[in-house]
Amino acid sequence: MSSFLKTAIQAARAAGKIHRQFYGKALNIQYKGRNNLNLVTQVDKLSEKKILAILKKKFPTHDLLGEESGLQDNNSPYAWVVDPLDGTTNFAHAYPFFCVSIALLHRGQPLVAVVYDALRDECFTAEKGKGAFLNGKRLRVSKVKDLEKSLLCTGFAYMVRETHYNLDNFAKFVLTAQGVRRDGSAAMNLAYVAAGRLDGFWERGIQAWDMAAGVLLIREAGGKVTDLTGKPYDLFKQNALATNGPLHSTLFKILSKGKDEKNWLRKFGPTGVPH
Ligand code: IPD
Ligand code: CA
Ligand code: CA
Repeated sequence: MSSFLKTAIQAARAAGKIHRQFYGKALNIQYKGRNNLNLVTQVDKLSEKKILAILKKKFPTHDLLGEESGLQDNNSPYAWVVDPLDGTTNFAHAYPFFCVSIALLHRGQPLVAVVYDALRDECFTAEKGKGAFLNGKRLRVSKVKDLEKSLLCTGFAYMVRETHYNLDNFAKFVLTAQGVRRDGSAAMNLAYVAAGRLDGFWERGIQAWDMAAGVLLIREAGGKVTDLTGKPYDLFKQNALATNGPLHSTLFKILSKGKDEKNWLRKFGPTGVPH
């Protein structure tokens, strides 16, 4: 195991300890955007502080991109991309589905990945070219080929009411797949695709820190990640389709037809409130 991965695991576990400490307790909640959808708690901040301190101590010259503290640009070819708590809304409601996500990019490409679920003590790890693992056990994506036998998952970005419409695609898959989940932690969902627990995931308006570790986990477990139209995935373009592989073209053909999301807004009004 490289010292990159060792340190990433150490940092993820340290943040996970903070998650366990605060889970189910009263939290100090603030709001990041104009609406009350995008929360931040002291747990997000404390976890990020801890992770960045561990990474910085070991790799002082690397760049760091943390969801809560932004970019620390050292002009390095290496950049750590950190979501200290993915699933903050779940955490704030004591809904047990959230994780830490840490990736190391080399010249923009994921090299090392850790997604850590502190409640279940599940540590998903990957290194480029060396496979993906769950608590040390090799992971493979599922083999499901048929949409009607697939379990899919999506997320709704905080801008779902303004720009990142997803209801139309959600409806299409609810009507065609075996099941569709929306459980509020993109990084965990991606780890679950890598583990074969889910067969596919898509989201519009998804951020680099939600995706960076999951992309590598899925690739190393034999799956595929592109944008929503099947073009090469770009961490900073904010849309993603991640699957086991066999389902990929079926899914992006359905997704890329989704030009009519605006109909939902006509029905529900610009604020998402029915009228
Ligand atoms: C969010 C979660 C959610 C996804 C949102 C993300 P956060 O991250 O991953 O599942 O739908 O787009 O922003 O705010 O809990 O770290
Ligand atoms: Ca996130
Ligand atoms: Ca977060």
